[in-house]
Amino acid sequence: MMDKLLLSIFVLSGLCPVSSHRPVRRYDFVYEPKNMTEAQRHCREKYTDLVTIRHAEDVKTLNQMVDSSKMADYDHVAWIGLYNDVASWRWSLSNESFYRPGEAQFRRWGPGEGSNNNEYYTCMYADGSWMDYPPEASFRSVCFDAGGLNETFIFINISMKWTEAQTYCRDNHTDLASVRNLAENQKIQDLVPSQGIVWIGLFRDGWKWSHGTHSSFTNWKQGEPKLSEETCVAANFSADGQWQVSHCQDMRPFICYTDVPVSKQVIKVRLQKSSSSVDLNDPVVMENMLEKLKQRLKDQGLDDHIQLSWKKQPDGKVFHKEEKKTQDEKTCPEKDEL
Ligand SMILES: *[C@@H]1O[C@H](CO)[C@@H](O)[C@H](O)[C@H]1NC(C)=O
Ligand SMILES: *[C@@H]1O[C@H](CO)[C@@H](O)[C@H](O)[C@H]1NC(C)=O
Ligand SMILES: *[C@@H]1O[C@H](CO)[C@@H](O)[C@H](O)[C@H]1NC(C)=O
Ligand SMILES: *[C@@H]1O[C@H](CO)[C@@H](O)[C@H](O)[C@H]1NC(C)=O
Ligand SMILES: *[C@@H]1O[C@H](CO)[C@@H](O)[C@H](O)[C@H]1NC(C)=O
Ligand SMILES: *[C@@H]1O[C@H](CO)[C@@H](O)[C@H](O)[C@H]1NC(C)=O
Repeated sequence: MMDKLLLSIFVLSGLCPVSSHRPVRRYDFVYEPKNMTEAQRHCREKYTDLVTIRHAEDVKTLNQMVDSSKMADYDHVAWIGLYNDVASWRWSLSNESFYRPGEAQFRRWGPGEGSNNNEYYTCMYADGSWMDYPPEASFRSVCFDAGGLNETFIFINISMKWTEAQTYCRDNHTDLASVRNLAENQKIQDLVPSQGIVWIGLFRDGWKWSHGTHSSFTNWKQGEPKLSEETCVAANFSADGQWQVSHCQDMRPFICYTDVPVSKQVIKVRLQKSSSSVDLNDPVVMENMLEKLKQRLKDQGLDDHIQLSWKKQPDGKVFHKEEKKTQDEKTCPEKDEL
């Protein structure tokens, strides 16, 4: 009988949007393990991106969502969108016309340098080789003056953090030293006191989110992020979802997010009763009709996240008998498209 009833639903007014809201963030755990790059690709194809964790509320949500039984085979550790961008090394002086092809990519890393996750700034040793260092370190530095026929390098005999040295050089000279070739590397090396270490202009981005959003919130496990060549980050659900560094090629489950735009529409429907014994305002009948309506919308290709509800009229009732015609009637189911 319900089927017959539903078949005679008519849409009276068109779709009328009544409001729109900020997007709602949805999370999805994917328990099919992938390495970080494949997980990122999967999230970007099927969702918005790998998850960005913005505050303690997000951590709580994920802890509640995780299905421990499905995580058991993978140490309860899943990829999140945080990683350390070791590929973003570049010079403080970014003027492209200063570098001939390939010169901006000149490097003189010592063994094992240039890829440690917590070290974003570059200094030169007395032997001319380069090391990456964490932001807390203080050294003397080498600035340079550009614009002449040859660049002039200037040793600054003041110990500073890299960012302070950059400001000092930009104020008093062109910038922190750029090194475009072996000859320039040698000129700087000649300025480094024996046993000394000096900042040069090479730096990179540190920890950042896959989706590019900036967030100061962190949830590292104690002792993390440990200094290593592990530059990807996973949430450990044996430790309340706290973060730990991990090798990007490890196969792990992962968490994607989707920003879902919310829109709400009100539709008026007219129902024709096939039997006068049906009370359309019976909550059970109304619930049943919503389910069927939802199924029909899904059959028409609307996604799973649609929510339907009946809208009550000022008198508290949903359905009202249409006077003129012999049809029983109508009002507005409220439809949230999520
Ligand atoms: C960039 O470098 C070139 C060549 O060194 C110079 O002529 C130009 O003025 C520089 N541009 C800026 C914006 O500093
Ligand atoms: C510039 O550097 C080249 C090679 O290092 C050198 O031969 C030349 O004399 C230098 N010119 C000036 C004006 O210092
Ligand atoms: C740097 O300054 C110290 C004193 O602060 C001085 O002893 C040293 O000789 C200076 N080094 C250079 C290379 O000028
Ligand atoms: C520029 O150099 C002067 C003198 O060496 C110094 O006092 C000043 O602090 C420098 N500027 C900056 C921004 O560090
Ligand atoms: C996750 O955290 C727990 C509790 O601190 C720890 O025992 C376990 O080794 C961690 N898992 C991994 C894969 O590091
Ligand atoms: C992840 O897996 C893909 C496909 O197997 C591979 O091409 C890629 O190099 C891997 N990435 C990492 C970071 O291990």
